[in-house]
Amino acid sequence: MTQEQPTRRDFIYIATGAMGAVGVASFAWPLISQMSPDKSTLAAGAAAEFDLSKIAEGQVIVIKWRGAPYFIRHRTADEIKAAKANDAKVVLDKYLGKDDARVKPFENKLQDQWIVVAANCTHLGCVPTSNAGEFGGWYCPCHGSQYDNAGRVMRGPAPYNLGVPQYSFVSAEKINIFGEATRG
Ligand code: FES
Repeated sequence: MTQEQPTRRDFIYIATGAMGAVGVASFAWPLISQMSPDKSTLAAGAAAEFDLSKIAEGQVIVIKWRGAPYFIRHRTADEIKAAKANDAKVVLDKYLGKDDARVKPFENKLQDQWIVVAANCTHLGCVPTSNAGEFGGWYCPCHGSQYDNAGRVMRGPAPYNLGVPQYSFVSAEKINIFGEATRG
């Protein structure tokens, strides 16, 4: 299968982040072969594993799973620190409002360098722009909502934090996404 085939092109939706446009263009395509589940998995909409090893620190990519986009953000130490400091400032949506509640463990250690969230603004569903806005996370160009780097809404009109899908680490650099975000 070549990189030109629609299945793979559809799967990696866009890549954004700290790398420049040229860097993203040259980096995004290699990701495709190692992050794409096989055809039958995509067709079934089943759980899927994603290899994180090629996502550079500071980079945000968008994947598609079950037809919906998801952000995967590899946070830097400074970003993690900023997110923990935001815990006290989260007022619009307290559900999964703490940074620790928005990350998952591997071998009993929180992998807080990884944020995996739905890539649809909780206002009307636009895909927010990564690394934009005043909170270092995402900015929604449609009506101006702003999220921090953990996907928590810091400024509306979006009412809710970006949803955290159901996933787990199967190794230090591989996750398995198996369910859409729920609100408990
Ligand atoms: S859709 Fe994002 S602010 Fe309206």
